[in-house]
Parts: sequence; C-alpha cells; structure tokens
Amino acid sequence: MKLETVTTTPIEGQKPGTSGLRKKTRVFMQPHYLENFVQSVFTAIGGVEAKTLVVGGDGRFFNVEAIQTILKMAAANGASKVIVGQNGLLSTPAASHLIRKNKTDGGLILSASHNPGGIDEDFGVKFNGANGGPAVETVTDAMFAATQTITEYKIMSGGAADLGTVGTTQLGEMVVQVVDPVEDYAALMETLFDFGAIRALFADGFTMRFDAMHAVTGPYAKAILEGALGLPEGSVLNAVPLPDFGGGHPDPNPVWAKPLMDEMMSQDAPDFGAASDGDGDRNMVLGRGIYVTPSDSLAVLAANAHLAPAYASGLAGVARSMPTSGASDRVAEKLGIASFETPTGWKFFGNLLDAGKATLCGEESAGTGSDHVREKDGLWAVLLWLNILAVRKQSVADIMADHWREFGRNYYSRYDYEAVPADLANTVMDNLRGRLADLAEKTFGDLRVTAADEFSYLDPVDGSTSSGQGLRVWFDGGYRAVLRLSGTGTEGATIRIYLERYVEFADTNGLDAETALQPLVAAVLSLTDFEAVTGRTAPDVTT
Ligand code: G1P
Ligand code: ZN
Repeated sequence: MKLETVTTTPIEGQKPGTSGLRKKTRVFMQPHYLENFVQSVFTAIGGVEAKTLVVGGDGRFFNVEAIQTILKMAAANGASKVIVGQNGLLSTPAASHLIRKNKTDGGLILSASHNPGGIDEDFGVKFNGANGGPAVETVTDAMFAATQTITEYKIMSGGAADLGTVGTTQLGEMVVQVVDPVEDYAALMETLFDFGAIRALFADGFTMRFDAMHAVTGPYAKAILEGALGLPEGSVLNAVPLPDFGGGHPDPNPVWAKPLMDEMMSQDAPDFGAASDGDGDRNMVLGRGIYVTPSDSLAVLAANAHLAPAYASGLAGVARSMPTSGASDRVAEKLGIASFETPTGWKFFGNLLDAGKATLCGEESAGTGSDHVREKDGLWAVLLWLNILAVRKQSVADIMADHWREFGRNYYSRYDYEAVPADLANTVMDNLRGRLADLAEKTFGDLRVTAADEFSYLDPVDGSTSSGQGLRVWFDGGYRAVLRLSGTGTEGATIRIYLERYVEFADTNGLDAETALQPLVAAVLSLTDFEAVTGRTAPDVTT
C-alpha cells in the first residue's frame, strides 16, 4: 500500500444539513466527491492523526465502498485505529454507543436515514464527535468552509480491509477492528431495562410485531427481541438489511409502514407493533387499533420512565424540538422537572444531555432517546414502551386514554409537500416571514391569530444562538402551526407544515385528529395562500 496525495478542487454544495451531508447516491459516487468531504471533515476536527474513529452505516447501496474509501483516507491521514461494524453495518445509536464506550475521538456514520437507498436514491455521511452526538453547528460550518478551499486529500492506494470477519487487521500503519454490530448495543439495553419483566410479558402471550423495514435494525431486533427476550421467531418482519431496503422508504410512519399499520388496525391485531428506520434511530409505536404520535410517545415515556430501572430515580428534564407538540411540557410541569424547546435536529440535544439538564429527548419526526447515547434510538424507545407495558399490564390504548385524561390531548399532524421548486418554497416562507409582525388579531378561516414569530434558540449550555429555525403562528383555541423547510431533502425543497391543537380531555368529545385539526389546516392554507403560490392542492405525506 502506498500513501497518495491527490490534487483536487472544491466541489459546490457540500454543506451539511439537519443531519450531515445528504445527496443522491450518484452524486456521492462522482470522482473526488466523497473524498473531498471526508478530508474536509478531518480538517474541521483538527486532523485525525493518532486518533481512533468508529465507522459504519445502515447497509444501503454504496455503504461498503464508501467505508473502504474512508478507511484508506483515515490510514493515510495518520489515524491509529478505526472500529468498524461487521460487513460495514452499524445502526446510528449503536455507533454513538461505540464512540462513547471506547472513548474514541468520534465517528463517521453512513446513512440517509429514512430516505430510500439505491444507485438512483439517497446517500449520506455525518460526523459524530467524542460525546457520540452529531457534530454541532460550529463544526459543521468548519466542514463546509473546508470543502470550499480544499486543494488535496490523502488516501492509501490499493488494498481493502476485510470487513466480513470480526477481529483485528492492519491497513498500512492503522489498526482496523471489525466488531459485531449488535453485541455492545444489546448489552447496553440490558443495563437500562427490566429484561426479566419483558420476558415474562412475552411468555404470558403478549403479542408483538416489529417491522425492521429491511434496514439496519433487523439484526438488532432479532437478537434482542427474539433472542434475549424470547419473542416468538417470525415476530420481527423484514429483518434482513438490503441495499435498497426492498424498494421502499425505510421510514416508520403510517404511510411507509402501511402493512404493519394495517395489521395493527385489523380485527386480530397483535398487542403491540413497532418499526424502525434505515439507520435505526427512528421509531413508530402502535397498539391494537391505535397509532401513537411521536409527540405523545415522548410524553408517555416521560411520564412513565421511572418504571424502567435506568430511570427509576427520575428524570433531570425533558427536551423536545420546537415543532414537536407541547404534550411532554405538560408532563415535565407536573413532574416538576425542566423542559426545553430546541431547533429541529438531534444535534441540539447534545449539550443538554452532556450537561445533565435533560434525560429524555424527542422529536415529532419519530425520534426519541435518552442520555444512554447521544442519538435518537428506535429500539430503545420500543424497549422502554415494552418495559412500561410489562409493569402497567394495560393495553396501549388504555395507557393513552389515561394519559389524555390526566394531561389533556395535543392533537398533532404534519403535512409534507415534497420536491417543491426551491423558489416557490422560499416565496411561501418569505411572504409569511414578512407578515409575522402584523398577524396578531387577524382572522384566517375561523381562527384568530394570537401571536406569531420566527423561532430562534439560545443554547443554555454554550450560549450560542441558532436563528431562522421555523415560523410559528398561534391561534385562539389552543392551535399552533409551524412552517419550516426540510434540511435533509435531496431534491428541490420540502415544505413541512406542523399542526397542533391542545384540548382538555373533557372537551375532546371523541374527536379524531383529522377533524380536530381541520380548522387549523384551513387557516394556514389561507394565511399563506398556499395553493396559489405552490400549485399544490394536497400534501405528499401526512403523518
Ligand atoms: C428531519 C426531521 C428532524 C430529524 C431529521 C434527521 O429533518 O424533521 O426532526 O432530526 O430529519 O432524522 P428535516 O428534513 O425536517 O430538516
Ligand atoms: Zn434515521
């Protein structure tokens, strides 16, 4: 093997978004594209000389090729060791755990999360720091700056690491340690939850389906649910990770996990259903005949976490992203603990977790997690639910009904308009931004605006400010709408409209979410002149 220094020039658009750099796979496969970005990541973190990194991905198309490139670049840049998941697989939370457990200097995770995989689909790279969490904005800004001035990168020529066998090999001077992707993660889960109680629940005939969506959590769910916890074999569906996720979107929501959704709504539905996404950090939770919104899930987990051993002594605080419903705030208030509202993206939770200010965190986009790692964690959420169900011995529907009775209900939905031409999406946002100051007291549809602003976050730990994080409009009657543009899309712009309405339990009258939110939908579409500006008459995805 020989060290090569390759001359290159900056490539436009290598700006990390909500969660690392995401592009079409073919874009990443262009000459120098991945190499330029990886070298820029190394530059932004002060080089990798004598450092140890973790590398792995969700198994999507181009995963292994990208890992081989990264290994050769890490070796050429003087890294002392890289820990890699066998066959290149590591779920995002498992990677976060490996970074922390081995006290490494960080890691590279290859995934485009819930976006589809394949040569014509999506790919992504993100860097997580030594705390196991996604790089914060100052670091991602430094990465982007480095991509704009790069002139060369270093790489070893020839040779490839054997990723198929657990054990230690060398790549040049660098040690490559291939590890079982599941082992350490499974051991961590066992320290957090009452596996005995969950085993007893399953032994008692409690039925469950877990849809791994042909993504990375298949092996984890098999080992933990069917292995350690004794769930009957065959309860984990689509358990083999595939480079194209079987052709679907590995996104655990009622739209993309429809077969599971249909089964859970059927006559002989199992007691519990769950699914996870491409890289294993998202989750969907269902009971027989009931879908639990991610915002509600966070609130229920916060209210019941003390039933699991890891959280028995209580929570320091609960953090949620701004568009997530306020349901968890009500729980925090009642528990007398702190609650935090952060911008969208898990990277904003890192400081709160590191500082011990928050124990549980969550996002409306199917992400929940705790201070056990520095990423959201799909299987963790499922196991915490199972632990709670094992102790409370009630159905999911009854737990939800109790929760709403006690705290009131935050009806919630998100409308996504995908691949909107960027100029039209910006027009929607700019128009609304321009009117924020004089919206109060005006009526749209049947609703009167009480307040409106653009969300800006002051991080209570490091004092940094992140502005421009979403437009918010509140209306009389407990309604709130939020508009923001997605930072993870790879095609045009995605406009997200987040809809929420808080209702005291006594006032719900058995409302379903669609009916409950209808006046808000009408008000927002009218307020933004949405159809006229975008030409869109219906969202592409509703969750
Ligand atoms: C989306 C979600 C956000 C999540 C991110 C990464 O980002 O909305 O909550 O953290 O994916 O999974 P967005 O596309 O909205 O920028
Ligand atoms: Zn994900």
